[in-house]
Amino acid sequence: MKSVKDTLLQRRSIRRYEREDINPEYMELIYEAIRNTPTSYNGQQFTVIDIDDQKLKEKLYEIVGAKQIKTCNHFLLFCADYNKITLIADEKGIEMPSFTNTMDGVIVGVVDATLAMMSALVAAESCGLGTCCIGYARTASPEGIAKALNLPQGVFAVCGLAIGVPRELPDMKPKQPESLLIHHNCYREDDMTAELVEYDANVRHFNATRSGEKTDNDWAAHIIGYYREAMGYDMLHALARRGFDVVS
Ligand SMILES: Cc1cc2nc3c(=O)[nH]c(=O)nc-3n(C[C@H](O)[C@H](O)[C@H](O)COP(=O)(O)O)c2cc1C
Repeated sequence: MKSVKDTLLQRRSIRRYEREDINPEYMELIYEAIRNTPTSYNGQQFTVIDIDDQKLKEKLYEIVGAKQIKTCNHFLLFCADYNKITLIADEKGIEMPSFTNTMDGVIVGVVDATLAMMSALVAAESCGLGTCCIGYARTASPEGIAKALNLPQGVFAVCGLAIGVPRELPDMKPKQPESLLIHHNCYREDDMTAELVEYDANVRHFNATRSGEKTDNDWAAHIIGYYREAMGYDMLHALARRGFDVVS
């Protein structure tokens, strides 16, 4: 197993995988790590669907359009989940407040599912496996995913995680310097623009010189392009159809 330091500091997204099964002991560690995720109120407002059936992975690939889904060994879908607490509330005759119709209800489910994904990611990486988060599993077709995987009301896909034996070792992407990411005691008041411009130039240089496919992408325009694309996702109505009719 890798050290914690190597696991965290040598990690990068892996998008190409060997056609090789994952050691069942590694999957067991990943499941245990998921189970021991800290969650809001210990409510465990999440469920993970582990998809290793090739036909189903190909079907999901058609819905989502991310090729890692069909080429990875296990595709884990992390869902926010209020179905389980609703079932036991019914069983025990407890009136369920409409928490899912609040912004905080959505945030709680997203935070729990996301932390569970990070637990799985770190466990997988520590075993030498390659991982890639797949956000398009949330945005590409919330209804298509819900139908294909039989998601009940009160459950929606937050993010996918493709796991497999790595078939590539891409260069590590430059990240914002510590000074931009970690502020001490309060939000920085001095002007960060020069550091942001420098980071933007670093990313452009990295993209132009990295091994493998090169691009002329900078950081800011490229990321803002993603935001522009994301303006069309309409998650508010997609979530309402899943039982999260956010009103407050
Ligand atoms: C929530 C989330 C969603 C992501 N969705 C995708 C995706 O749909 N497709 C993809 O190729 N990479 C996806 N990624 C991976 C990011 O592109 C990647 O983490 C980022 O470019 C930084 O690169 P690194 O992971 O190699 O450090 C996602 C990452 C996160 C955290």
